[in-house]
Amino acid sequence: MFSKFSIQSKYTLVFVVAILLVAVGFLLGVQDLKVKQLRNEARAVAEQVVSFRAWVAGSGVVWVDKLSPDFHDYLGKKMVHEGELMFSKNPALATRELSTIVAKSATRAKFRVTSDEYRNPANAPDGFESKAINSFKRGEKSGYVDGVDGGTYRYAQPIFVAKACMRCHGDPKDAPKEVIEKYGDKKAFGYKVGDVRGIISVSLPDITLAEVMSSFVNPYTIGLVGVAFLVSFLYTQFGLIRRMQVLTAKTERIAKGGFDEEITAPKGAADEIDQLAHAVDMLRRSLVIATRHLQKRKP
Ligand code: HEC
Repeated sequence: MFSKFSIQSKYTLVFVVAILLVAVGFLLGVQDLKVKQLRNEARAVAEQVVSFRAWVAGSGVVWVDKLSPDFHDYLGKKMVHEGELMFSKNPALATRELSTIVAKSATRAKFRVTSDEYRNPANAPDGFESKAINSFKRGEKSGYVDGVDGGTYRYAQPIFVAKACMRCHGDPKDAPKEVIEKYGDKKAFGYKVGDVRGIISVSLPDITLAEVMSSFVNPYTIGLVGVAFLVSFLYTQFGLIRRMQVLTAKTERIAKGGFDEEITAPKGAADEIDQLAHAVDMLRRSLVIATRHLQKRKP
């Protein structure tokens, strides 16, 4: 089927196919790199949340002396001197408020803290988050769970119960009365140190193929592929095709009786066209000897 194609056309076809295969291989590699990049970004955010929560839990709760209109939720309140009120925010509440601020900011990564046993309905997990919590609790996954869901990269990592959490998530008898007053004594108690209490869930806009392509397909890559094609094109044209055309023309002249058409080729050449030239020249010499014999035998 390719017999009507010249070497140059066949070669161009091979070049295009090879470039396409390299491009596909490259994109598969980039896909992997992309997920690693997103995962690192998400993990960095999650670790900051862990640190922030550890800071609040280490102090028990944080006390604020006024409630801003956007963040009027609090756990407990107490009167300080001269009738001034202070309000407390527990780790999860403070984290939820931080999450709201971050969600409104320009950062790509948004996060939230959620649990299968949530006290606050605003912390209820969605489908991806429920699955992640279950796989951590069953011990199927330990470090993180991630995936792409409708153009969004989702990442979850477990939050474990530490000693500082036991006061509010261990035995309800030890719990501060504000917790019992606000959430009752049933929800999110009975945990032990080391239990999976919930997850930090991070979402990031997925990096699209078009974005990946735009950073790799630039004038330089296109130019380099062009130069690679040109170099190989010139080699095929002058290093192979041109030499074969010359050899064909000489062989045709010999076939028509031009036995003195000498074909020179370097001795012991590794180049296959030189070897072919050498073989043709040997054939020519044999023809010369054979015709001489024939002429001698003539009466
Ligand atoms: C001062 C009491 C207190 C301490 C200490 C505390 N928590 Fe909580 N935790 C709460 C309350 C109250 C809620 C409900 C928060 C809300 O309204 O968003 C909560 C909620 C949570 C949630 C979110 C799910 C839900 O129930 O809505 C997680 C996860 C969580 N806590 C984990 C921890 C971990 C881990 C620690 C220790 C590092 C800890 N908590 C320490 C009181 C506490």
